[in-house]
Amino acid sequence: MIRPKEQQNVLQLRCEPLERVRIGFIGLGVRAKRAIERMMHIEGAVVTAICDLVELNIEEAQSIITSSGKEPAATYCDSEGWMRVCESPDIDLVYICTDWLSHAKIAVHAMNCGKHVALEVPAAMTIDECWSLVDTAEKHRRHCIMLENCCYDEFELTLLNMAQLGVLGEIIHAEGSYLHDLRERIASNDQGGRRWTNWQTDFLKGHNGNPYPTHGLGPIALAMGIHRGDRMNSIVSVSSKRVSCGDDCNALSGNMNTSIITTEKGHTIVVQHCVSLPHPYSRSFLLSGTKGFAQKYPQPHIAIDPDGERAITGEELNNILGEYCHPFVKTYKDFGERLCGRRWIDYAMDSRLIYCLRNGLPLDMDVYDAAEWSCLVELTERSSQQGGAPIEFPDFTRGDWNRINGVSFAE
Ligand SMILES: NC(=O)c1ccc[n+]([C@@H]2O[C@H](COP(=O)([O-])OP(=O)(O)OC[C@H]3O[C@@H](n4cnc5c(N)ncnc54)[C@H](O)[C@@H]3O)[C@@H](O)[C@H]2O)c1
Repeated sequence: MIRPKEQQNVLQLRCEPLERVRIGFIGLGVRAKRAIERMMHIEGAVVTAICDLVELNIEEAQSIITSSGKEPAATYCDSEGWMRVCESPDIDLVYICTDWLSHAKIAVHAMNCGKHVALEVPAAMTIDECWSLVDTAEKHRRHCIMLENCCYDEFELTLLNMAQLGVLGEIIHAEGSYLHDLRERIASNDQGGRRWTNWQTDFLKGHNGNPYPTHGLGPIALAMGIHRGDRMNSIVSVSSKRVSCGDDCNALSGNMNTSIITTEKGHTIVVQHCVSLPHPYSRSFLLSGTKGFAQKYPQPHIAIDPDGERAITGEELNNILGEYCHPFVKTYKDFGERLCGRRWIDYAMDSRLIYCLRNGLPLDMDVYDAAEWSCLVELTERSSQQGGAPIEFPDFTRGDWNRINGVSFAE
């Protein structure tokens, strides 16, 4: 697809530095309230507006802000509140934590109003929505980051470091997944009256394929340099049959969806999704290179040439991971863990977002990541409906996927 003349790519986009980042939150459910809590501890972040359809959520979010001794935020509690948040002159960043189907629409309006956007996963549910994110970000030269927190987990960051230093050689194959036994949550989906709709269950009832691909794909796409020297070319995806086993969800989606992606450089990626079978939590995260191997679940282990057959675990593994520890872990883990335990990765993600905006730096992930990772929602559904037929990936960079060599996080 040819880029309109008035647009340029937004690779490594730099925008005007912001002394304070004034944030408008839209959607104040489980995820947003935790994010607001984190923002109370991040220098330069100010929550100036909060918006939801449920009054109780507004009250709870406001109480997090005021009990931290901060100025109360402006509140919006009606079906058009999200538009007024986007249009408000007191906001620099719109932080979107609504349900899947509304992410892209809100993000596009926010960018059209000149705001930067951070949006929850997946950023978009259709290819058209992915293109609308890319086009709007390019047209208005605004940041649009998908909040893929798994990219900030310790093992993933450390392995990214090792991959970039060549310790694993050329990464030939990777695997990432979201295998999470959510049967109970899907069956109840209640949240004590706070939830506006049962959006997750509703989506599973009407769709097949992989509706939640980004936790698995995100960290491996960064390690493999997707749109930073390589690109995902095509995908084949198959869904198993559906057996209801405790989630009471008469879903169209098969229990297990498995996809294989091939890249321009001839590398392969497997992505899986399953939330309706017994399974210990796993995002897989497997990297297989010409000099080494790494796998996080069920127990982290790596193997490195010349001893490529031997699994390195325990103390020996910790020493190697310590040697290649990513600077973000050193900077954010201690305080983040004290603040929110294992969710320190979210603290790292938000801290980096605010830091980059305040310093006019490119964000860690860009709108092309958001589009490339999210477009699997539609691609996997289309391929699985056709019995696993190969489907081409759109090139959201419009030919610019080879201009950058690997991931570089701005300092
Ligand atoms: N990154 C992660 O680890 C992670 C974990 C959980 C959820 N998520 C993502 O976060 C998002 C939110 O999940 P959640 O569990 O907080 O959901 P939730 O249902 O608890 O919250 C969504 C909120 O959005 C509000 N909302 C919906 N439409 C709105 C509108 N038009 N205007 C204003 N408010 C609106 C709802 O009233 C609700 O309070 C989802 O996209 C989900 O995929 C990410």
